[in-house]
Amino acid sequence: MTTDRLFASVERFQGTTPWGQVLDAGTGEHSLRWLSELRTEALAAVTASEGMARGLREKVSLRPQDRLLVGNWTDPTLLAQESFDTVLADYLLGAVDGFAPYFQDQLFPRLRPLVRHRLYAIGLAPYPDAAEDEGGALILELARLRDACILLAKHRCYREYPLDWTCRHLERAGFVVEDAWSTPIVYRERFIQGQLRVCEAKLGYLNDKALIAALRGQIESLRSRAMDHLRRHPEGVRLGADWVVVARAA
Ligand SMILES: C[S@@+](CC[C@H](N)C(=O)[O-])C[C@H]1O[C@@H](n2cnc3c(N)ncnc32)[C@H](O)[C@@H]1O
Repeated sequence: MTTDRLFASVERFQGTTPWGQVLDAGTGEHSLRWLSELRTEALAAVTASEGMARGLREKVSLRPQDRLLVGNWTDPTLLAQESFDTVLADYLLGAVDGFAPYFQDQLFPRLRPLVRHRLYAIGLAPYPDAAEDEGGALILELARLRDACILLAKHRCYREYPLDWTCRHLERAGFVVEDAWSTPIVYRERFIQGQLRVCEAKLGYLNDKALIAALRGQIESLRSRAMDHLRRHPEGVRLGADWVVVARAA
């Protein structure tokens, strides 16, 4: 069984039911590696990003019957007439704003005809506006700084949705929600450094030298305060939750 706690919970729910033909509807290294280690008949993995597909082709080895496709769910011809026993939408909903803004309410109706048996949707609950402790406040500051850098680079941020929004829209799309659960998130150094790297990378798209210097100062200040916090709290920072929804094709 995988060591990833969300994928492990999906494996537990699936039990002895065969995975069959599987669609990874918003693929990435994390989900594709996991799926490629399961006993599936065939895998189809979709990304809207040519760059991500290039990276995945180098990093994850697929079988002859597996496919990695670049396409957008706004395109009605993408995998038209095909269907899959199991469909995974892993952090897809939150990423839609980056590739198909305002399409979120159409995502599950679009995926519905592709699901023969079961859809697993995984996502991040939107962060609260305020944190209850110092560690949580640091993670919120990090998220705001990341999004500010993304916007200043003229790129689009992700937009996360709550569990109840997701269940409501799955039901409207003709799915039956079989089960759903939330798992609290504990943030550690790897996540914080990764998000700060996103901030740094976005500075490369800015022209205003004073603004770049000010943002660099913010990034380094946050890095040192966050690392100091983690030294005092090696158990990590608890904030927010991930959710999983299991939906059956009605
Ligand atoms: C957060 S990323 C990757 C999550 C992934 N499961 C992982 O392993 O980390 C989201 C993925 O969904 C894809 N995506 C987002 N909106 C999409 C859309 N409208 N059509 C197709 N793919 C989309 C992105 O291109 C990307 O491959």
